[in-house]
Amino acid sequence: MNKAFIFLKLHRVLEGARILKKAVLFLICFLFCFVVLFGISPPLHMQVTSSVNGLTPIESLGKNLFFDTNLSTPPGMACSACHAPETGFTGPNSTLNANGAVYPGTVDTRFSARAPPTAEYAGESPVLYYNETKFQWIGGMFFDGRATGWMLGDPLAEQAQGPFLNPVEQNNPNSSVVVQRVMLSGYADLFEEVWGNISLNDVTKAYDKIAFSIAAYERSSEVNPFSSKYDAYLDGTSGLTELETQGLTLFEGKAMCSSCHPSELGPSGTHPLFTDFTYWNLGIPKNPENPFYNVSSEFNPDGLNYIDYGLGAFLKNASYPQSVYEPALGTFKVPTLRNVDLRPTPEFVKSYGHNGFFQSLEDIVHFYNTRDVGNWSEPEVYVNLDTMNMGNLNLNLNEERAIVAYLKTLNDGYNPESSGSLVSVVLIGALVVVLFCLVVFVVFKKYKIRQKTTDLTKDVRSWREIVLFLKLNLL
Ligand code: HEC
Ligand code: HEC
Repeated sequence: MNKAFIFLKLHRVLEGARILKKAVLFLICFLFCFVVLFGISPPLHMQVTSSVNGLTPIESLGKNLFFDTNLSTPPGMACSACHAPETGFTGPNSTLNANGAVYPGTVDTRFSARAPPTAEYAGESPVLYYNETKFQWIGGMFFDGRATGWMLGDPLAEQAQGPFLNPVEQNNPNSSVVVQRVMLSGYADLFEEVWGNISLNDVTKAYDKIAFSIAAYERSSEVNPFSSKYDAYLDGTSGLTELETQGLTLFEGKAMCSSCHPSELGPSGTHPLFTDFTYWNLGIPKNPENPFYNVSSEFNPDGLNYIDYGLGAFLKNASYPQSVYEPALGTFKVPTLRNVDLRPTPEFVKSYGHNGFFQSLEDIVHFYNTRDVGNWSEPEVYVNLDTMNMGNLNLNLNEERAIVAYLKTLNDGYNPESSGSLVSVVLIGALVVVLFCLVVFVVFKKYKIRQKTTDLTKDVRSWREIVLFLKLNLL
């Protein structure tokens, strides 16, 4: 066989292998850079739509409990039936929201008197107390503060013990049934990992641990992502439109919203929660569509005459004297406004107010503006009506619209169109450049080999030379 020919072939194979090696190295380097750049700090649009940080074991346990449909009697109803992520952890049924807004329990003929508020951003509410200087009750959980935190030292955990045993919600006969179901669940091992071996054996302690786990999930960054457009605005990474800016100015000024729904950064840079956890009577009318008026007298002895006295009723039931409960009659806790507009589709109806009286943000803002001068039904409770901060704000329709536009900037999962597409453009651009370089590299090399090999074939004389060549190239 022709030595020169073999030599030529070998040479080509080796050159090819070298190019391949270089190309692979190049690709590895590129992938490495890609992972470092985008793996450690994922693009903004990925950060805000997926859960930001992984959950800790106790948060993950709480999440399992929160979404477990087996923890009701009969089974089928989880906390998430009334607090779903896609609506900002409020009621996920548009038809229900539009018609009465109060959700049935797992026994579907039973209703409570109130619409589900969000379970997000609730973890900072302090243990319920009376502030002697402000003459105000502050903190606790539920619209009426009855999950005070006085027993567990944590209102959010104390709240989580309510629904499981509430006959109009998850309807379990006792805490032992709930603990039993957790014991048989797929996450029983996780429970013991978090709380220790045999931690499910003592029912009373285990029931508290269930509550603390749920509260941990409700305080997690998955449930409190602080990822709204307004958060980006406070961080200086996004602007607001003209209308939104006008809304913000009104919210903090003429419309006085921020006096109860604080919207400014805290002293140490903490982002606002839009509630100061105080209680007010806004004079919201009865919601005639509230199904509670028609439930059996076992749950509503007053029937159509039922009046929701909020915090005052709780304090009265808790045996406080008249001088204490009377000023609280008809007052309800200020809810957060975060995710107040979050909905799965634009047509999806959300309800607002403790009894779901309002079906849109436009409605409730118009109510704040015109309660005392407009055509509204009478307040459900007349005493303790707030007339200092609302009722006749003198806003025109454009100003009302601006406030609504601002409220919509409080939805988590802000996905700035520009930054999302910017990231894609950069990525595609980088890929094109890399491919181009690769092609140039290969073509150039091939050209060089051909030149070299044609020169070489002339000089090759012996096998020794070929061996020498191989040695040189392989080492
Ligand atoms: C049948 C619907 C329903 C189910 C199921 C349900 N909730 Fe609620 N949730 C409500 C309603 C209604 C309220 C307001 C009740 C009130 O104020 O009296 C509420 C209030 C709350 C609040 C208080 C928020 C605040 O700011 O005061 C939290 C937190 C909460 N629920 C979490 C949970 C958890 C955790 C579970 C499961 C253990 C659960 N909910 C199950 C309907 C439900
Ligand atoms: C005096 C205190 C106070 C002021 C001022 C105030 N709010 Fe409220 N806000 C509340 C309370 C209390 C509730 C709950 C009332 C209820 O359900 O009975 C509430 C409820 C809401 C809700 C319904 C939230 C939900 O999830 O159901 C929205 C929206 C809202 N407020 C927006 C505003 C806007 C906008 C302004 C300014 C125009 C404003 N608030 C001014 C105390 C206040």
